[in-house]
Amino acid sequence: MYICYTKRWYNPPSPPEKVKKLFVILSLLVSTALFAVSDNATLETMLLPIPADAQQAGDAARGYEYLTTGDFLKSGAPYRFFLMANGKNTANRLNRTGKNATVSHAYNVIEKDGVHMVIPTCLQCHAQVFDGQLVIGLGNTMLDFSNAGSMDFSAQMRMLQIAAPRQYAAAKPFLKSFATVFPKIETEVRGVNAADKLAITLVSHRDAQTLKWSDTPLLPIPEEVIPTDVPAWWMMKKKNAMFYNGFARGDFGKYLMLSNLLTVTDSAEAREVSSHFGDVLAYIRSIEPPKYPKEIDAQKAETGRVVFNNNCSGCHGTYGADGKYPNLLVPLSIIQTDSALCQGVQNSAPFIEWFKRSWFAQGANAPYIVPFNGYLAPPLDGVWITAPYLHNGSVPTLEALLNSKLRPVYWSRTWSYDYNSIGVTYTKHDTAIRKQTYNTTLRGYSNAGHYFGDALTDDERTAVIEYLKTL
Ligand code: HEC
Ligand code: HEC
Repeated sequence: MYICYTKRWYNPPSPPEKVKKLFVILSLLVSTALFAVSDNATLETMLLPIPADAQQAGDAARGYEYLTTGDFLKSGAPYRFFLMANGKNTANRLNRTGKNATVSHAYNVIEKDGVHMVIPTCLQCHAQVFDGQLVIGLGNTMLDFSNAGSMDFSAQMRMLQIAAPRQYAAAKPFLKSFATVFPKIETEVRGVNAADKLAITLVSHRDAQTLKWSDTPLLPIPEEVIPTDVPAWWMMKKKNAMFYNGFARGDFGKYLMLSNLLTVTDSAEAREVSSHFGDVLAYIRSIEPPKYPKEIDAQKAETGRVVFNNNCSGCHGTYGADGKYPNLLVPLSIIQTDSALCQGVQNSAPFIEWFKRSWFAQGANAPYIVPFNGYLAPPLDGVWITAPYLHNGSVPTLEALLNSKLRPVYWSRTWSYDYNSIGVTYTKHDTAIRKQTYNTTLRGYSNAGHYFGDALTDDERTAVIEYLKTL
């Protein structure tokens, strides 16, 4: 199972004797038992296939229904006050009925103890309006976490407590959690996501077994907010592990419901919510990537397919009817992209411990965490629409991803799409203005690495991009 690359971009260092011997033994074992190998030298120079774990079965239609109307949070902002602050949303992009038709696609209206509340849903981060159409599953890069630290809800909370005590009681778990978490998830620029820090912060305020809230954190919360992009949901039908780093193994359903930690009262409630997540997973795995909307030069794309299969498919797989996706983890020594995210997982011993003994890690196909010093080579289906690129969204276009000389150090985006370079339209700057400029010199925000496109000629590169449009 050792994947040896002798392509132009990478000459693997000769493995030490001990490792060579291991390969001989390993190649005799036709199995994915590769994970038993924990020799560090091996891990630094190998691409590691991730084995598939059993997943829950589910019903995609029911999963969609639950995502877009369900109460996976049992506490939210009181509906009446939410409408006063935001007004009615008239777009009704999900064609919903009743009160759900009056809020944007990124919220559901739920009822608990006779109080109607508005809850933020997965679609806050996992849907985006593109060319006037809502694309469910597309990571939302329009979000702005860059001023989260200055948000203060205490005045509104006090007002609500006095003006509407019943609504306040129902909304309290949500408001309290929000007020605690928000100051901790500020990013340096808009457009990147702080979900990982959000999850870490929520975990640290929860008892591992009962999931009950503790006002004082039970684990040390790291200062750093490591920024990420948001992966497209349609890749999940191919992936054997979740997240850019591929650390999340076992039952995906449990990871999918992590944002339930925002308001969950106890593990009994979590169990009820959890019972829907086989359906949610089935829905997520049913999503198809959106088709490229403009013309594609078929001949150029065919040339690009050959270049791609020679240079890229070893990591990213092949496409079409008999396509194969290898689910490979690529070590940092090879990929060389920003290390903050994968090292953040490796340095999270208290959180991994918490997870291991938590409610989440129980039951059939119990989830388990496998940290890795590198990143998963993602499937490239629908990649034309998922700009900006790399796990931290540091590279604005496919053209720049495949030609590192073109990558801007400081850049700001507009909201239009660039169909020439394939990605977000951006402006280069000489220096960074905080929040407005993506600053790739910051820790966590680097645009280094993934130099595999540099070895191609200009013609090969444009042909590969033409091919990528067809995926
Ligand atoms: C605050 C934004 C946010 C919300 C809300 C959110 N997610 Fe995510 N989600 C992310 C980010 C960011 C990642 C990638 C994190 C990483 O890989 O380090 C992610 C990763 C995922 C993945 C893994 C995709 C992959 O290719 O590995 C799935 C599936 C997913 N989320 C589903 C959900 C579901 C279901 C919900 C709602 C119950 C939800 N998310 C709520 C931001 C969010
Ligand atoms: C050695 C394995 C490897 C090879 C070879 C490789 N890639 Fe990648 N690729 C990766 C990994 C790993 C990532 C994720 C890196 C990260 O986000 O930090 C990635 C990311 C990408 C992305 C960004 C995806 C996104 O949504 O952000 C694109 C596009 C891409 N690769 C295209 C290509 C093309 C085209 C080639 C061939 C010229 C290629 N890759 C060769 C491993 C590889």
